[in-house]
Amino acid sequence: MRIAVIAGDGIGRDVTAEAMKVLQSVGDVFGRRVDLEHLPWSADHYLKTGETLPPNGYQFLREFDAIFVGALGDPRVSDNRHARDILLGTRFELDLYVNYRPVRLIDDRLSPLKDRGTKDINFVVFRENTEGVYVSVGGRFKAGTEDEVAIQEEVNTYKGVHRIIRHAFEHAKTHGLTKVCMADKSNAMQQGHALWQRVFKEVAPQFPGITATHQYIDAMAMFLVKDPGQYQVIVTNNLFGDIITDIGGALQGGLGMAASGNIHPGKTSLFEPVHGSAPPLAGKNVANPIGAILSTALMLETLGARDESKAIEAAVEQAVRAGQTTSDIGGTLGTREAGDYIVKHIRKH
Ligand SMILES: NC(=O)c1ccc[n+]([C@@H]2O[C@H](COP(=O)([O-])OP(=O)(O)OC[C@H]3O[C@@H](n4cnc5c(N)ncnc54)[C@H](O)[C@@H]3O)[C@@H](O)[C@H]2O)c1
Repeated sequence: MRIAVIAGDGIGRDVTAEAMKVLQSVGDVFGRRVDLEHLPWSADHYLKTGETLPPNGYQFLREFDAIFVGALGDPRVSDNRHARDILLGTRFELDLYVNYRPVRLIDDRLSPLKDRGTKDINFVVFRENTEGVYVSVGGRFKAGTEDEVAIQEEVNTYKGVHRIIRHAFEHAKTHGLTKVCMADKSNAMQQGHALWQRVFKEVAPQFPGITATHQYIDAMAMFLVKDPGQYQVIVTNNLFGDIITDIGGALQGGLGMAASGNIHPGKTSLFEPVHGSAPPLAGKNVANPIGAILSTALMLETLGARDESKAIEAAVEQAVRAGQTTSDIGGTLGTREAGDYIVKHIRKH
């Protein structure tokens, strides 16, 4: 496997080091060669060279089996330009239309909800990843004055909505799940979200064993906290998916636990923890590496290396149950020591 590694900024670097240690160890144990190509693309690189990524950067990334990103974001780059080019740019240029975010509580102890545990918090979110309000279509008129007008358009295409909804149903089918819930705001956003309604009603009957339901996103935000056990598969747009998966991160025990994949099935895809670069924690050996480590498990699952993926998940579960973790989830270990514990467990496999 050839993997492009962009550790990025802040704690992205700390957690990527651990995730790559874990990936190498699972490769050793299962006899699979893993070649890592570390790319320097980051705020430091941008501030030093003026380049966010090289002119052929996206084409270069396409040649790898997968891409791993730690996190991007640095207060010295106030317009976040490098993060936009590297992360959003790769999502758009490689057409990574599926943002896959599993939300699974590993241990009851980490539940932030009263009387809700591992049996209640176990679902996946599919967020549309190439359209919506993140396409940067719009403009500002009379900027900086009291007459300023700012327009940010939301783009929804039949092709884009159809392929993410279909992917959610296909995931349910292939994983033996029976419920898909689509969230939109079609009561208030009557143009774009009418398209989501239409496509959902068109696709759902093609999956007869699966119950298709709909919720408005505001109701879903409430139910995710009140009754998360009702969900198996959620599908929604770019903005709403971004927001509810942070709720999902909290349900799993914190942002440090959440993993994600940015996927175009069958093509080079990108895997990253859900959290950002958390500048105050950077370089202090305190960041939780589990979100990054579980992102390598998603990468292996997507590349068809199921046993390796399961071995990583099992080692993480063991570490969490044994309390051998960083302090954000109640342990006493540093980032490196938490990574070492997981590696040790995998090597015992
Ligand atoms: N995908 C990405 O690369 C990504 C995602 C979100 C934010 N960002 C960027 O990251 C920077 C910081 O953003 P933010 O502070 O809003 O979000 P953040 O995710 O970096 O941090 C939010 C909170 O979660 C905690 N946290 C996050 N990850 C953790 C971990 N692994 N272990 C322990 N605690 C953890 C932090 O201490 C902080 O309190 C910004 O520049 C933002 O643009 C990048």
